[in-house]
Amino acid sequence: MEDNNNKVSMDKIVSLARRRGFIFPSSEIYGGLSSCWDYGPLGVEVKRNVKNAWWQAMIHNRDDMVGLDTSIIMHPKVWEASGHVSGFSDPLVDCMDCKQRFRADHLTTENCPNCGGKLTQPRQFNLMFKTYIGPVEDQASIAYLRPETAQGIFVNFANVLNTTRKKLPFGIGQIGKSFRNEITTGNFIFRSREFEQMEIEFFVKPGDDETWFKFWLEERLNWFTSIGIRKENLKLRQHRKDELAHYAKDCYDIEYLFPMGWSELEGIANRADFDLKQHAAHSGNDLTFFDEESKTHVVPYVIEPSSGVDRTVLALLCDAYCEEPDKDEIRTVLKLHPSIAPYKVAVLPLSRKEPVVDCARKVYSALRKSFSTSYDDAQSIGRRYRRQDEIGTPYCVTIDFDSLEDNSVTLRDRDSMRQLRLPIDKLCSTLAAKLNGESFEVLPAGGKHWLGF
Ligand code: GAP
Repeated sequence: MEDNNNKVSMDKIVSLARRRGFIFPSSEIYGGLSSCWDYGPLGVEVKRNVKNAWWQAMIHNRDDMVGLDTSIIMHPKVWEASGHVSGFSDPLVDCMDCKQRFRADHLTTENCPNCGGKLTQPRQFNLMFKTYIGPVEDQASIAYLRPETAQGIFVNFANVLNTTRKKLPFGIGQIGKSFRNEITTGNFIFRSREFEQMEIEFFVKPGDDETWFKFWLEERLNWFTSIGIRKENLKLRQHRKDELAHYAKDCYDIEYLFPMGWSELEGIANRADFDLKQHAAHSGNDLTFFDEESKTHVVPYVIEPSSGVDRTVLALLCDAYCEEPDKDEIRTVLKLHPSIAPYKVAVLPLSRKEPVVDCARKVYSALRKSFSTSYDDAQSIGRRYRRQDEIGTPYCVTIDFDSLEDNSVTLRDRDSMRQLRLPIDKLCSTLAAKLNGESFEVLPAGGKHWLGF
């Protein structure tokens, strides 16, 4: 039996994701493209739910945050100022025999781990994807796909300050695609070459940075538990001095217990005043904040909680995956938090006869106005429940011949498999309450517990 991610293998997650339409290999009909993935009909919903939950909690629910959406291709000087052109690289070695490439800092042997052949000396390999702007492919037209969304925020610092009149401390958040020509990929969507980030740059007065750093460590951990990831599968790990990025004064990773072990889900760094100073120096623009109290211009310090959408999706799938005994079979359930589940409810008519279908269609139309709803009338009710369990739908509504007489339907809870019978006109409000965390045992007016099907 598998009841948590300590036991679930990555193969099971990949297989479920493929089988049920969460995530497919990119360009699959051409044999797939290494480390690129496509989100299917259910995956795209999960991904949107993750991004919406982040935006709601980090931007809309806070007075001290605003959002931004900056371009992927930026002025090449951005990446000189940020240090990416000179420093965003990994040491790479080639096998002289089989020609495979490896990251030198990931190797545990002197020779090629694939064939035992001799390896070349390490050379630095820049991880940024290069492209050219315009029709001429020369040095002057080189541009890069951004390797992080953060720099789009820094270069807009003055624009945001001038248009919003924000005062320190305040932050800017952004969600968007980033690209890295990673040498070592793998572990499904954990490390890919094209991925999505959710980043905050939080600007504070120098001297207040350590207090805000602690605040964000806690805030971000709480966010992951608020979307249903178990606390015991999350931990903070401080970077050693020799691990710190060139810009960081301090940094912690929020790690998750993935099937391959504890690995980074999010990085939270104290970037001090590195970026604003660099961009001010390289662009010649004033990127200071005028502090009314002290009547001085200050370069704010920056706390950066930087998260990956794809890694969050992977953590959610691993955390939610369960295999449970059900009579003499095993049922697979994705116990996703309702805010993350692709469908909140499924409508399942117990007959394809017209009056039942009419009633089911009416219920479906009413529910889909408020909730992401699935309609499924194919195969036996048992198989339909299994399907919904496996894709994480928290509630199923069945409509039967009795529904036509008593105007009631049956509501089934994914996790306990308990059922209750309730009047159709109480269905929307009951679902809203249950999705908001109300116990399944609480009965609506006119409802009763039900042994059902
Ligand atoms: N602006 C800081 C920054 O980009 P990072 O630790 O390199 O920091 C932040 O990246 C987050 O982005 C990581 O914690 C991870 O969730 C995600 N991420 C980074 N590289 C990734 C990759 N190749 N594939 C998927 N997610 C990645």
